[in-house]
Amino acid sequence: MKLSQLKGLTLGLIMLPLLAACGGESQGRSTPSGSDSYGVEKFTVYKQPTCDCCKKWMSRLEKAGFDTTARHPSDLNAIKEGYQIEPRHQSCHTAVSSQGYVFEGHVPARYIREFLANPPHNAIGLAVPGMPLGSPGMEVGDRFTPYQVLLLKKDGSSEVFASVENAAQQYQREAQP
Ligand code: CU
Ligand code: CU
Repeated sequence: MKLSQLKGLTLGLIMLPLLAACGGESQGRSTPSGSDSYGVEKFTVYKQPTCDCCKKWMSRLEKAGFDTTARHPSDLNAIKEGYQIEPRHQSCHTAVSSQGYVFEGHVPARYIREFLANPPHNAIGLAVPGMPLGSPGMEVGDRFTPYQVLLLKKDGSSEVFASVENAAQQYQREAQP
């Protein structure tokens, strides 16, 4: 009798975190999609039609094995606002994964892959604010400005996801084209 009660309690304790984890996932702002998470990840990239660095960034993603589609909304700021990207986190383009995560600016593909492999709880995505020189799509010769990839959270705050100190670091773990 006592033993079975104990077993029930233990089971309950095991099940609770599992249920909480599932609930947490379904609460996300991300829209469920029919895309196979083991297939090619697809991104919708909102940008200005004339922006060249955005196109270059998209081709970096394609080379890394992702799929990208460009969109040119008349009001790009409304898109950024809609995805709750704070002005201090903003850059030229906003990419949205099929799962609804946002990738603002020139985020290297390796960090997108790292993020999508295990999206942190309460995260909406990643951002590289501004347009750091030497980031993917922002190459000018060998020039490089160290920058940070930020983890954007649902409450509008952020934390450092990665510090990128040199150009080579951006392409680690990626198949070189
Ligand atoms: Cu740019
Ligand atoms: Cu861009």
